[in-house]
Amino acid sequence: MTEQRATPAGRLAIVGAGVIGLSCAWRAAEAGWAVELVDPAPGSGSSWVAGGMLAPVTEAWPGEEDLLELGADSLGRWPAFAAALADAAGTPAGLRTEGTVVVAAGAGDRAELDDLAGYLAKVGREVDVLSARELRRLEPAIGPDVRGGLSVPGDLAVDNRVLLGALRAAADRAGVRFVEAGARAVTADGVELADGRRVPADAVLVAAGAHSAALHPALDGLVRPVKGEILRLRHRPGALPPPSRTVRAVVDGRPVYGVPRDGGGLVIGATQYETGFDTEPTVGGVRDLLRDAERVLPGVAEYALVEVTAGLRPGTPDNLPLIGSLGGTSRGGPLVATGHGRNGILLAPITVAAVLALLAGEPVPAAALVADPARLTRTALTGPTARR
Ligand code: GLY
Repeated sequence: MTEQRATPAGRLAIVGAGVIGLSCAWRAAEAGWAVELVDPAPGSGSSWVAGGMLAPVTEAWPGEEDLLELGADSLGRWPAFAAALADAAGTPAGLRTEGTVVVAAGAGDRAELDDLAGYLAKVGREVDVLSARELRRLEPAIGPDVRGGLSVPGDLAVDNRVLLGALRAAADRAGVRFVEAGARAVTADGVELADGRRVPADAVLVAAGAHSAALHPALDGLVRPVKGEILRLRHRPGALPPPSRTVRAVVDGRPVYGVPRDGGGLVIGATQYETGFDTEPTVGGVRDLLRDAERVLPGVAEYALVEVTAGLRPGTPDNLPLIGSLGGTSRGGPLVATGHGRNGILLAPITVAAVLALLAGEPVPAAALVADPARLTRTALTGPTARR
């Protein structure tokens, strides 16, 4: 739709300017693609709401070993990704390397953490088990109700809003063109906009998070919104300072996390509901988060409550993302990079590596093979399905 410079790679249209879409747009433009990035409000969706944990180990769940391996691979790529982004953007990427602790607030919660430690050891991820006293030595912000926990120094975090700013700057500098409009549908050769216009392209990537399913028939029923509420707090003079590490907790069976930000910020999340495309925070959700956060980090009672938001995680039937072609061959149909569930920001580097490989007609990194959408789309496709 807009005049594009001739490039050796061709025209790439991407739908969705969250962390995944922006990251792919930036890197693809650097690789020589003329990129048009379609989004009515770039960087304002779930990536803006997110907590920003890069936490494959502390997000691990029995039976989801493929996701753990995928996340661990992507986490290994994060330092280089952040450095390249800071270089390209001329601003920091927001990576924090202080690590994570997981704590239990009640007797039953302690048993749950012991189970988690046992499971992680079984899958080869040793973690340090800490007493309550050891935890408080590490993080004095942790309160007296906490019974003990685990230290996972390798699980990191990133300030999602700093990251979005850097990605936007890097994409601008690389020549990405933003099309601020909604998308109605994608085909292998373009994007239909909600207003009836069309963005023609040589390759198309769907990266529209929870909104992806409506864009292509093969995605119908494969991506659903999973709501989460998030609170943003700010330390006030005189209050106990926030932790330096991410603190994840189980409080009477409910999960809660606090992710510190530079300058005394603390992001508290996150509830989980399946209520469609509803992004209204609820009184009950906010009450649970505040009550549980205060039980673990009592100082937060004195903090300023700065923001209450809710976002939509893009869930899939097997909790693995969809990264690959919807057409069966790397250039034969639209590409997709969505369904990242609770781990979109963590999985950005491996997703970009896979998308760039697909665009170049090269094999995707081995760790990303589990995310091939063909595992779920076979019956939905009318064309060839076996890419490898
Ligand atoms: N990754 C944290 C969340 O989805 O709440």
